[in-house]
Amino acid sequence: MKLLFLVCICQFVLCFSQSTFDEFFDYTRYLFLSFSPTDEYLLIHTRYPLWSNNSYSHNLWIYHIETTEKRLITENLHPSVKPKWSPTGNFLSLVLNNDRNMYQYSVKSNELLPIDIGHDKIPLVFTWSNDDSALYFVTMATNKEKNVDEDDWKDVIQVRTDDKINTEIYEINFNESNSLSLIRKFSFFINEILYVPLLDKLVFTSASKILNLVEDFEMYSLDLKNPSLLTKLTDNQATEEDLQLSNDGKQILFRTLSLNSPKSRMNDTQGRLYSVDLLNGELQQIGTDFSGNIVGYACQSDGNILILGQLGTQVQIYSKQSLIDHHQGWNGTYESLVISKEKNLIAFVHSSFDKPMEVYIVNRIDELSIAESITNCNELFTGSNFSQGTVYTWKNRDDNQTIEGILHYPFGKLQSTNLPLLVLCHGGPYDASVNQMNNNGANWAPLAAANGWLVLEPNYRGSTGYGDEFFNQIRHRPLSLPGKDILFGIDSLIQDGIVDSRRLAIAGYSYGGCLTNWLITQTDRFSAALSGSGIIDYSSMWGTSDMPVLIENLFGGFPWNVPELYQKESPIYNFDKVHTPTHIITGEIDVRVPASQSYILERALYYRGVPVELLIFPNEDHALSRNPKHQKLKVQRELQWLHKYL
Ligand SMILES: *[C@@H]1O[C@H](CO)[C@@H](O)[C@H](O)[C@H]1NC(C)=O
Ligand SMILES: *[C@@H]1O[C@H](CO)[C@@H](O)[C@H](O)[C@H]1NC(C)=O
Ligand SMILES: *[C@@H]1O[C@H](CO)[C@@H](O)[C@H](O)[C@H]1NC(C)=O
Ligand SMILES: *[C@@H]1O[C@H](CO)[C@@H](O)[C@H](O)[C@H]1NC(C)=O
Ligand SMILES: *[C@@H]1O[C@H](CO)[C@@H](O)[C@H](O)[C@H]1NC(C)=O
Ligand SMILES: *[C@@H]1O[C@H](CO)[C@@H](O)[C@H](O)[C@H]1NC(C)=O
Repeated sequence: MKLLFLVCICQFVLCFSQSTFDEFFDYTRYLFLSFSPTDEYLLIHTRYPLWSNNSYSHNLWIYHIETTEKRLITENLHPSVKPKWSPTGNFLSLVLNNDRNMYQYSVKSNELLPIDIGHDKIPLVFTWSNDDSALYFVTMATNKEKNVDEDDWKDVIQVRTDDKINTEIYEINFNESNSLSLIRKFSFFINEILYVPLLDKLVFTSASKILNLVEDFEMYSLDLKNPSLLTKLTDNQATEEDLQLSNDGKQILFRTLSLNSPKSRMNDTQGRLYSVDLLNGELQQIGTDFSGNIVGYACQSDGNILILGQLGTQVQIYSKQSLIDHHQGWNGTYESLVISKEKNLIAFVHSSFDKPMEVYIVNRIDELSIAESITNCNELFTGSNFSQGTVYTWKNRDDNQTIEGILHYPFGKLQSTNLPLLVLCHGGPYDASVNQMNNNGANWAPLAAANGWLVLEPNYRGSTGYGDEFFNQIRHRPLSLPGKDILFGIDSLIQDGIVDSRRLAIAGYSYGGCLTNWLITQTDRFSAALSGSGIIDYSSMWGTSDMPVLIENLFGGFPWNVPELYQKESPIYNFDKVHTPTHIITGEIDVRVPASQSYILERALYYRGVPVELLIFPNEDHALSRNPKHQKLKVQRELQWLHKYL
């Protein structure tokens, strides 16, 4: 009888919202934009779920700015390797998914031709030389050399020795029937590469598969006239990305993230922008007076730099003249900002609570608020009635720090009182919940709101966009401090009469999952918890995650340096207090937060006699981005769990 009753409830929940539910996930992301050197075209990389194929479609479009005609170049673009324009704009070089060729797209003939680079190599990144006749690219060897005499050992993995990455930089000469010449070999991963025409140099960033040492992530320059000469350009306890050439062609601009390194000499904790002079090696920080998180930038031909900066719950466009000036556009989140070379056209992606992501082009920065979209893939979500978003602030009464969060109300219920509350914690921790529409299995607040929940997305201590001190304060108390920030937020919502104190649930993915696991050890006020790829034990996490440096920085040492801290801040050692029914999901091959953390969590709840369900998605890593159906299944089961326990 009881079982039947539950089945009825579940069916009711699903019938009620199945079409809305499916609709929510039919969302297109615009991942990358790039103007052609002649200002004629804009490249657009889109990604949307291909339900019939259990995969995502990665499409590359070429948009003719004058005629507004769009042409599809490929439906199988590599998800992360960015296409590059040749210097004349006649060609594009690109890489396809699951394919070991380089490809050359001719804009004139609309042909996509493979360039064989040898099938023992995987192309990683590339850059054009100063004309269309040559390209530099980085490859990684596909198979390791094994001694045939040691056949018994063939399958045995020797850790650290077998982990070594060997990369090579080649030049490909299109004058001489695509001949390859090796420039230099390296024993590290190369993330980005950029050719500097004025100095005939290659600049690139080094990286390792596992974040063992921040020192493995630096920027180098290689003189092509003498490739044995390698110059290290950075030594900054930070990772570097988004390399761009300055207008004078002598400087490289780049963004950094220090992962809260206590050894950092520059206090460059949130996303920061720097330039390095290739002639004298001088480093300069750009936008020093911006207290938030720099997430992107683009250079104008007059030398001005436009900065994408996250401050609180918005990502807006600022310009760096002498002071940081805010360019008034729309509320919400700007992304993928690019500027064309000739006419300084500006293209970007924008979205907000009530406006889906689309691509826009404007002639001048003061036209931001009258921009018109050139895409309409997410038309379905215009005037979306899933939810209504607003910003909410409260104080952590321990130290009076103001904390901000986003509230997603059920549509039409703004100003309602006594609502059931779902707290949805963002990951990171160095990230933030912002005024954006980014529908997926981790960012499903609007969908939860459409199912009747008031959703709070707290920007707890450690979040970006609230200054470096706010960001740094979680060191030595990575869960207890943000945990208190969140609990005070719930108190405040109850005091304001907005939330019904008897109907509370907690959820989060990644770091949000860690906070979920932590908070069920701190209080019994939640009737249900939804934990996604979260940590339960920081010592084993340090030993198995691909980012040990992050854990070491957060705790201020290794597990043997500060054992009491690892114990105090790990949920597992506080599990005697847990009573909250908890739903857990994780990816099978997650290397960021290994699935073992979720197994430990499930076992602890099982032995405590607390209702628990652990679901493991096959062949998925931390991003859970291989099969879009997994995201749907995740949220479907989580909604069922909430309805079962509330
Ligand atoms: C379907 O999925 C497979 C495997 O994930 C992939 O190789 C193939 O390109 C996909 N087909 C389409 C049309 O995207
Ligand atoms: C290809 O040929 C052109 C014209 O002769 C020349 O300018 C260019 O340097 C050559 N490129 C390479 C990589 O040899
Ligand atoms: C870095 O921050 C600490 C603490 O906020 C401060 O004492 C120190 O002076 C800062 N260092 C620099 C180089 O700004
Ligand atoms: C934009 O946000 C500000 C506060 O952040 C608010 O005062 C203003 O009304 C918003 N504008 C629009 C058009 O929503
Ligand atoms: C949104 O509006 C449409 C049409 O008015 C309606 O069919 C749908 O149920 C609404 N969805 C939500 C979540 O309120
Ligand atoms: C916080 O503010 C209240 C009211 O202004 C004050 O009484 C209290 O002492 C403050 N607490 C701290 C830790 O500063």
